Amino acid sequence: MTDYNIVTKAVPTFYFVGVTTGKSSINKVFPLWMDVLGRSEVVLKGIDHPIHDDPEAYRATVAQMKYDPNSLGALVTTHKLDLFAAAEDMFDYFDPYAQVTRELSSISKRDGRLEGHAKDPITAGLSLDHIIGEGYFGRTDGHILSLGAGGSALATLLHLINKPNKADRPDKFVAINRSADRLEHMRNMVAKYETDIEVEYIQSNDPACNDKVMARMPEYSIIINATGMGKDTPGSPITDNGLFPRNSIAWEFNYRGELDFMHQALRQTDSRNVRVEDGWVYFVHGWSQVVGQVLDIEITPELFDQLDKAAATTRS
Ligand SMILES: NC(=O)c1ccc[n+]([C@@H]2O[C@H](COP(=O)([O-])OP(=O)(O)OC[C@H]3O[C@@H](n4cnc5c(N)ncnc54)[C@H](OP(=O)(O)O)[C@@H]3O)[C@@H](O)[C@H]2O)c1
Repeated sequence: MTDYNIVTKAVPTFYFVGVTTGKSSINKVFPLWMDVLGRSEVVLKGIDHPIHDDPEAYRATVAQMKYDPNSLGALVTTHKLDLFAAAEDMFDYFDPYAQVTRELSSISKRDGRLEGHAKDPITAGLSLDHIIGEGYFGRTDGHILSLGAGGSALATLLHLINKPNKADRPDKFVAINRSADRLEHMRNMVAKYETDIEVEYIQSNDPACNDKVMARMPEYSIIINATGMGKDTPGSPITDNGLFPRNSIAWEFNYRGELDFMHQALRQTDSRNVRVEDGWVYFVHGWSQVVGQVLDIEITPELFDQLDKAAATTRS
């Protein structure tokens, strides 16, 4: 502990650990949410780490929360796997999803214990449920194509695997990823569960090849852009010629950036009856779940509605 340069915060502080935290909409949304929750004394502070930062830098970030009473906890983005690996021994508790995925998106404290949670399977799931409602796959026989097999794609798949009703599980989930590693990670994760969802793993970063896979998806399928392309990196994982299945849902996980994939889908709303969703709902669920965890407040559906409405006032 003495190795760390802990700053004693004058006010209760909620951290946002990311890469370019200053650009996120949460900076505008957070104070509004604190008013809704009756916790306007809590301030948000970003901590930017370069991607794949030095493990000691991650440990220093965790130590600040562990040892300063006014540092309440954090939402972690991008560094979820690296931070877990660097600082696993500093935590007193991990929830089952953090244990199985070995990543964490929430750091909180309860009764003097430092806790890590992987909220993504819950928040990706709440977002998907919000978009498709109950019984979607039973009604439509659609499948899922996930372009990208990183943390959020995996979270979406885990959520579907855990759905008790057959009508809420697709028969098939196709995952396309650039590197083989992520597909292997997904395969290992799926092997830990008994599931009737057939998962197909395809290694590709060729948009023309991705178009071909998309072309064989059935009507009503959900096509997800979970690659970060169009925000974190330029472009789209499909070409402008890629045809979305008729009556499909195109779900772009991001809500800011160039969003090329989303614009490709928007051009097919009439011709192929494609419904287009962006990542705003995911953003609101992701943040509200972690805020609830850190501040020890249950986010009821009524409270979520209030937070959603407050967040919407900041959208331009
Ligand atoms: N709206 C929200 O609140 C919200 C919530 C969660 C995530 N997101 C966004 O969703 C995106 C994905 O998040 P994540 O946490 O899953 O990130 P991640 O773990 O970095 O996963 C991205 C995956 O996409 C793969 N990929 C990149 N370009 C590709 C291409 N052209 N073809 C095939 N695969 C490609 C990467 O492969 P490699 O293995 O080769 O790198 C990586 O496995 C990010 O942009 C994130 O900001 C938004």
